[in-house]
Amino acid sequence: MYKVLVSDPISDYGLQQLACAADVEVTKKTGLSEDELIALIGAYDALLVRSHTKVTQRILEAAVRLKVIGRAGVGVDNIDLHAATIRGIVVFNAPNGNTVTTCEHTFAMMMALARHIPQAYSTTVAGAWDRKSFLGVELRGKILGVLGLGRIGIEVAKRAAAFSMTVIGYDPFLTEEKADELGIKLMPIDEIMRKADFITVHTPLTSDTHHMIAKRQFSIMKRGMRVINCARGGIIDEVALLEALDEGIVAGAAFDVFEKEPPEPSHPFFTHPNIIVTPHLGASTIEAQENVAVAVSKQVIHCLRNEPVQHAVNMPAIPAGLRNRLQPYFTLCDQLGKSLAQMTDGTVREVSIECAGGLADTDIAPLVPYALKGILSHHLGPEQVNVVNALYMAKERGVQIKTRKSLIAQGMADEITIRLKTTMEERWVTGAALAGVGERLIRIGPYPVELKAEGYILLISQLDQPGIIGHVGMLLGESGINIATMQVGRTEIGGSAVMILKVDKKVPEQVMKALSSIPAIKRVREINFN
Ligand code: NAD
Ligand code: MLT
Repeated sequence: MYKVLVSDPISDYGLQQLACAADVEVTKKTGLSEDELIALIGAYDALLVRSHTKVTQRILEAAVRLKVIGRAGVGVDNIDLHAATIRGIVVFNAPNGNTVTTCEHTFAMMMALARHIPQAYSTTVAGAWDRKSFLGVELRGKILGVLGLGRIGIEVAKRAAAFSMTVIGYDPFLTEEKADELGIKLMPIDEIMRKADFITVHTPLTSDTHHMIAKRQFSIMKRGMRVINCARGGIIDEVALLEALDEGIVAGAAFDVFEKEPPEPSHPFFTHPNIIVTPHLGASTIEAQENVAVAVSKQVIHCLRNEPVQHAVNMPAIPAGLRNRLQPYFTLCDQLGKSLAQMTDGTVREVSIECAGGLADTDIAPLVPYALKGILSHHLGPEQVNVVNALYMAKERGVQIKTRKSLIAQGMADEITIRLKTTMEERWVTGAALAGVGERLIRIGPYPVELKAEGYILLISQLDQPGIIGHVGMLLGESGINIATMQVGRTEIGGSAVMILKVDKKVPEQVMKALSSIPAIKRVREINFN
């Protein structure tokens, strides 16, 4: 039974699918302090949050069973991603569910700003009938600058067109073609500052976007412009904004998000006549909350059952087509890594993943964490390493990682070779995923084999001489160890050879020693695939 803790208010309707899963038990406990969460978290496999719960390093240190954190929303800035990744905890979000809702909130703010709706409401309900103080502006014909043209920014731009606004914008990842298609004119940020009547920000908060609108940007803005922030507090410098309002550069501002949330009750925005505010309500609609809850429910089930997760933020996303193409090789790479780690001495220095045949035209980068997991879990313990943290752990240990491709396969049509260089030696194994058969090791170094990675395998390097097979068989037989299968491979008659024995149980230390002392035997290794 997987135990899931929901620590922020998340739509019950959306969580139904999770609550109904036979192998999941859901507990809802909201409003916990950090210490209260620390005391509880050790018992849970999954944690679901919105933005209120701050998932700190201290919480993650206590989260001994935790496999996954689901964020019902977009921003994961309330989760210590680095600490989660090191611990091999998958973090995923639900980035699509609140896009339109947040875009609509941005528009609501823009219109409220243009027509002073909140201020007019307050004075009207207070008894005044003031028709002079709230002279607004039309959106029609105005220039809207959008910083960050991702999911929400693009939706805002689309709606702005319906209001007959001209949209200009900046996003490092939006192509000219796509921008043209959407009717957006891309230009540098400074030019946007000079031209726009309204500016709305839709970037994440990063070191690049922190205070991306600050004193200098305000100083070059068109007088009388208006700004909106429904993305993240800190993208617009709050102090510089107040100065720009006082100087008459900015006519009004609408903020849903703040540098510190919740802001102090004395925050100067709350008393400024030309600033309107909402308490981080961008995603707060019934529809969006159901959408994100449904999305996290589905993903948490996938994740706990070790199935692919669509929106993991601390693992590279693999497009569906590529995932299908690589599907047979994920387990194979893990198995190749596992076998290689057990047959190689020395400290791991370099891992190379090489593919050949039909795979040569495929992006094999997603296979790297699986190969590294196989190798590192042997050295660091299987509970310490998974595909989330394998790359981090390898890099932290100074391991060089390479991928190579070749059109020419030596045996099967598509094959993968993992090559491991240590401080003492270099070894490699090759595998293939055979139709109707499954994953197989097909070469150990230069020796052809056909080996299923299961149980205990004895790998014996020897000189190609008569009598050795009998000698080995006798020794194992006398020790009560049954040989299930045997394969031998050699490069040339009388040269080096390998003997691969699948045995039914672990070979005791003294039998390994006895095998190693046979004169023609150079090395004996046991590979445990259990
Ligand atoms: P997204 O990832 O789809 O889009 C963000 C875009 O910002 C990307 O296209 C990225 O290329 C761009 N970007 C990054 N750095 C940039 C820079 N320096 N200059 C210009 N563009 C840059 O994200 P989204 O789903 O559109 O969300 C946008 C923001 O809105 C996020 O900060 C998110 O957390 C926030 N959000 C807030 C609420 C709310 O309740 N107020 C709700 C949902 C999302
Ligand atoms: C988000 O990042 O999705 C938003 O901040 C919305 C939220 O969770 O309230």
